[in-house]
Amino acid sequence: MAGESRIGVTGLAVMGANLARNIARHGIPVAVHNRSPAKTEELVREFGHEGPMTGTTTVEEFVAALERPRRLVMMVKAGPPVDAVAEELAAHLEPGDILIDGGNSHFQDTRRRVEHYRERDLRFIGTGISGGEEGALNGPSIMPGGEREAYAEIADIFETIAAHVDGLPCCTYVGPDGAGHYVKMVHNGIEYADIQLIVEAYDLLRHGVGLEVPDIAQIFGEWNTGDLDSFLIEITAKVLGKTDAETGKPLVDVIVDQAEQKGTGRWTAQDALELGVPLTAITEAVFARSLSALLEERAAAAQTLAGPAPEGGAREDRSLVDDVQRALYASKVVAYAQGFAQMSAASGQYDWSLDLGAMARIWRGGCIIRARFLGRITDAYEEDPNLTNLLMVPYFRDAVAEAQDAWRRVVSHAVARGIAVPAFTSALAYYDGYRRERGPASLIQGLRDYFGAHTYRRVDKPGSFHTRWAQDGTEAQTDA
Ligand code: 6PG
Repeated sequence: MAGESRIGVTGLAVMGANLARNIARHGIPVAVHNRSPAKTEELVREFGHEGPMTGTTTVEEFVAALERPRRLVMMVKAGPPVDAVAEELAAHLEPGDILIDGGNSHFQDTRRRVEHYRERDLRFIGTGISGGEEGALNGPSIMPGGEREAYAEIADIFETIAAHVDGLPCCTYVGPDGAGHYVKMVHNGIEYADIQLIVEAYDLLRHGVGLEVPDIAQIFGEWNTGDLDSFLIEITAKVLGKTDAETGKPLVDVIVDQAEQKGTGRWTAQDALELGVPLTAITEAVFARSLSALLEERAAAAQTLAGPAPEGGAREDRSLVDDVQRALYASKVVAYAQGFAQMSAASGQYDWSLDLGAMARIWRGGCIIRARFLGRITDAYEEDPNLTNLLMVPYFRDAVAEAQDAWRRVVSHAVARGIAVPAFTSALAYYDGYRRERGPASLIQGLRDYFGAHTYRRVDKPGSFHTRWAQDGTEAQTDA
């Protein structure tokens, strides 16, 4: 027997509950379910008046409340809970029904699940949903992957509840199997890089220029009106502008300086290593969080290791403020260029045919990295779908060229003052490495050949060569 709800949501923690409310608020009948029924009752009691929402207590009831093909969104913690809930639901489903995982699952798990449920005649959609609790309620950015035909069955609902920018939904079919979760993973990786670049800029303004926290809040507010206009810059101004009620200090000064992470940034870096994509900005951002976590070691090292103290090293040079803004923008361009290069490599590796311009478009609203800047990326891919690197696009090429003197001054100043800016620095190193036709890797090859006879290629003739370093020093072609 089939019910009348068009879609179901199980897992009613804040993201699931808000997503269900968003669906109901659009007049779309939604069935809700949670392992402990108290949460379901509470949601229906408090928000059931917002739209057509049916509370269900058991899995059987939940499944029976849905029209066919059934559409079931699981909003549960990534990892084993997704398998457990999917299995429990699957036992009550019929061929063609659609399981949708809306959590931050690893894309390889999603690939496995798509395959597993296909064998059972069920369809599995792994979808990234970004925007935090506010986005889930008022319009997130949605990144669904799986079978295109299965997506067609949920497209109208997802595209209705997503954020909209310029009349377009921040949701589109991403690609087969794990593509949606992959793109969400890279979104989160870029979120890590964006955040790290922002905190480095803050550190420089505070300890490199010597500004007070409220002044820095104001500067971020000003930056948000220009090229850097983005959600993260906007909320940086708000977080820095907040005074702690108890101590009267800036709140940022009473928060422990140990960053946590749930894993998506690390996964992005891990897959970059697998694919051989130089993803330095995101990876440095992950490492910076790991370093921040070494609180006790850092306290001991601060007493022991020599070097300029960032605190008290201020030089009150206001010209550095503009330089930091430019360096931030140039580094951000590099971070995005790297993230998009990674998605391009993954698209080839996993056979996904990702439309990268569309990915930038669905990130313009709803998600954590939403920014004006993303429109430029969409334009770039519309102009050239086979683009190899965003740095080569005239708009970004010129923006970085214009910013680079400031960028170099900022990095030099930071290094001299002992202020660690790993994302700024590594982004610049990538830029300089990428624009160099002939680099020093020939020496790496020479060394590898010396100690391991790993061979090298020559610039002047084809083939592989080995020098008999320890014998007579002569060179031999090894593939002749
Ligand atoms: C989003 C966010 C969301 C979450 C991050 C936080 O797009 O809405 O990215 O998924 O806030 O996973 O990640 P960390 O806890 O690893 O910083």
